[in-house]
Amino acid sequence: MTSQSEAVAKTGSILDRFYLSGKVALVTGGSRGIGRAISLALAEAGADIILASRKIADLEAVAVEIKQLGRRALPVAANVRHLPEIEGLVEKAAGKFGRIDILVNNAGTNPVFGSVLNIDEKVWDVILGLNLKGYFFLSQKVAGLMRQQGGGVIINVSSDAGVEPAVGLGVYSISKAGVIMLTRVLAQELGQYDIRVNAIAPGIVRTKFSEALWANPLISAEAADNTALKHVAEPEEIATAALYLASEASSHMTGETLVLDGGRFCSVRKLVKGLEPKTSEKK
Ligand SMILES: NC(=O)c1ccc[n+]([C@@H]2O[C@H](COP(=O)([O-])OP(=O)(O)OC[C@H]3O[C@@H](n4cnc5c(N)ncnc54)[C@H](OP(=O)(O)O)[C@@H]3O)[C@@H](O)[C@H]2O)c1
Repeated sequence: MTSQSEAVAKTGSILDRFYLSGKVALVTGGSRGIGRAISLALAEAGADIILASRKIADLEAVAVEIKQLGRRALPVAANVRHLPEIEGLVEKAAGKFGRIDILVNNAGTNPVFGSVLNIDEKVWDVILGLNLKGYFFLSQKVAGLMRQQGGGVIINVSSDAGVEPAVGLGVYSISKAGVIMLTRVLAQELGQYDIRVNAIAPGIVRTKFSEALWANPLISAEAADNTALKHVAEPEEIATAALYLASEASSHMTGETLVLDGGRFCSVRKLVKGLEPKTSEKK
């Protein structure tokens, strides 16, 4: 029996499996949006949090919120697109807490919208450098620690654009599809060390990243209408999935991607409209 499943076997209430008491989590992009919501959710469940992004002042504000929840917080300014900064981040995190039990690769970018015919090498390198290379090398460094510790959890934030290409977001879609395969590759190799690796693929979430979409009433209504649940997600609706994946509640799950798109992929409107029941059948 592995250390993770032993812990589960000893658990009294099934809800105890969602608690993260004594765990240490590193969340990239923790200063706002989905990363902030995940950081607060993991802290509320009992974890101490290392927050990483480029602007220290924004991180410090979230660190205050985490401390108010009674947990320890370490804000670290790091551009996780660059290997030396990734190494520095892991050193600082391990130096402060001595361990990392949960890694959330969340910081992501998309600086362009438009045709793949107009993408230059710099844009490719920025998107793939953060969204895929950064995830890979931070996972590699942290997994080395987790192996020594006897286990851990890695959560990669992908996107529904990694499952179905998003129009105008070609390179971003490629990077997020890469994250899904990265998740499977890492899960396959690291399972033997009791390290689980899963991904979350959200649809549109109300954050700064996607503001151009949800702040435009026409696009927002269209986007919501394209989902079965008819709304744009709030960051907390993604954070609860991260809590499940970070905790013993998901102890038998690895290599998988949870798609949280409000039912976009099961909501092909034209087909549904054509299949609407006739008035007489509705009664
Ligand atoms: N919002 C959506 O609709 C949506 C949908 C699907 C997937 N996602 C994915 O969800 C993840 C989080 O997005 P979000 O919507 O929460 O975005 P957001 O609100 O813009 O937050 C992005 C976070 O990443 C940090 N960051 C950006 N570049 C960085 C870098 N080079 N190094 C370190 N940190 C960096 C930002 O802080 P600094 O700027 O200070 O560095 C910020 O903390 C991304 O991977 C995104 O692709 C978002």
